[in-house]
Amino acid sequence: MPQQKTGRDIAPATGKLGVMLVGLGAVSTTFIAGVENVRRGRALPIGSLSQMATIRLGKRTDKRVPKLKDFVPLADLNQLVFAAWDPIPDDAYTAALKAGVLDRHEHVEPIKDFLQHIKPMPAAFDQYYVKRLQGTNVKRGKTKRELAEQLREDIRAFKKTAGVARVVIVWCASTEIFLTAGPAHQSLAAFEQAMEQNDPSIAPSMLYAYAALMENVPFANGAPNLTVDLPVMERLAEERKIPIGGKDFKTGQTMMKSVLAPALKARMLGLAGWYSTNILGNRDGEVLDDPESFKTKEESKLGLLEHILQPELYPELYGKIYHKVRINYYPPRGDNKEGWDNIDIFGWLGYPMQIKVDFLCRDSILAAPIVLDLALFFDLAHRAGLSGIQEWLSFYFKGPQTAPGLYPEHDLFIQHTKLKNTLRWMMGEEQITHLGVEYYEYADK
Ligand SMILES: NC(=O)c1ccc[n+]([C@@H]2O[C@H](COP(=O)([O-])OP(=O)(O)OC[C@H]3O[C@@H](n4cnc5c(N)ncnc54)[C@H](O)[C@@H]3O)[C@@H](O)[C@H]2O)c1
Repeated sequence: MPQQKTGRDIAPATGKLGVMLVGLGAVSTTFIAGVENVRRGRALPIGSLSQMATIRLGKRTDKRVPKLKDFVPLADLNQLVFAAWDPIPDDAYTAALKAGVLDRHEHVEPIKDFLQHIKPMPAAFDQYYVKRLQGTNVKRGKTKRELAEQLREDIRAFKKTAGVARVVIVWCASTEIFLTAGPAHQSLAAFEQAMEQNDPSIAPSMLYAYAALMENVPFANGAPNLTVDLPVMERLAEERKIPIGGKDFKTGQTMMKSVLAPALKARMLGLAGWYSTNILGNRDGEVLDDPESFKTKEESKLGLLEHILQPELYPELYGKIYHKVRINYYPPRGDNKEGWDNIDIFGWLGYPMQIKVDFLCRDSILAAPIVLDLALFFDLAHRAGLSGIQEWLSFYFKGPQTAPGLYPEHDLFIQHTKLKNTLRWMMGEEQITHLGVEYYEYADK
């Protein structure tokens, strides 16, 4: 008997989808300009699963492999409308030129008018949390609570003026200084009181997260700041039935790490050390040159090896790993980062070997399709009634947020399977286990 299909009830993606970006820097402008170039048929959305990937349904012999976007009801690129906040007043055209990621003549000038219309709203910003930036386009208020209320007002005003049916927010702003969750982050009452009292443990990113959740807007966090990774936000998201997730887009070096480390473990090869260093010359690199912001990033980049390699289960192979991550601000390279990895491994009888990776990547070119997918999938999750942490979108994050007590899954291919299986589950299709015995005669015996 064929299996009865019982997917989730998913509201249709009718009307416009507002994508509000915190930060209008390299990643945001590369994303916005990219979407517009794709909409005008001038380029391809390479790197985006939502636009390019297919999904296998049923048995291999069924030959059902639709595109993801034809399988699940995602908003279409033509339905997207953009807005942003930034303490630097440059419009998206000027910001894109300053970021210098996209070719000016090929991808920026032809859409100049469109980009010039996207002007950043004043930001909730405080230099205490991002030491290397100075902003003039900032909100004024006596308390952090007032700033949060102004952000809520921005969301409501954007909904009205842009005529959007739904909104999602993606944090594409700078990495803030390292903070840990404290008493102010445990409950809504404590959080609201801390905002009133201008408690330093409330960073600007948390004000955006709070404003989003109070306005019923899903929030994805592309930087390693705590932001929505706090008990108060998790509870608020559950109560208000809003999807949240983070942290930190998984783009270059960490993406490679989450591919190579599982390969070593799969083959039971040992690891003695992994030294990763980067040179990067964009504004993000400048911000990360500040030790306090770097600490936030470092935590996010260091976590995954331990989770993937499980030294507690394999002490002989992974019990003594020396893991180091460095980011060096080096202006001549701009957004074109170079990331080196030196990996010291050992094999049969303990004989040492080395792997070297030299990834000449473009940071924002890798990040932009992630922003697009997150915006579309968070909107889908919301319409499908999924609330709280969206673990199935771990694929996109360096430090995936998980339910309390659960360790995060970092292996890129497990994350990829999880993402696609979640979409199958949403649509009432069978899970793909890769067991495969059904294709052979002995399966019935
Ligand atoms: N590009 C990547 O590969 C990648 C990967 C992972 C994470 N990230 C993170 O994404 C973020 C954006 O990267 P980018 O290269 O676009 O950096 P960027 O410096 O070009 O842009 C960040 C923008 O955020 C603005 N900003 C800072 N604080 C703000 C606030 N409180 N409210 C509103 N805007 C604020 C800044 O003025 C700046 O214009 C960074 O945190 C970065 O660490 C990037």
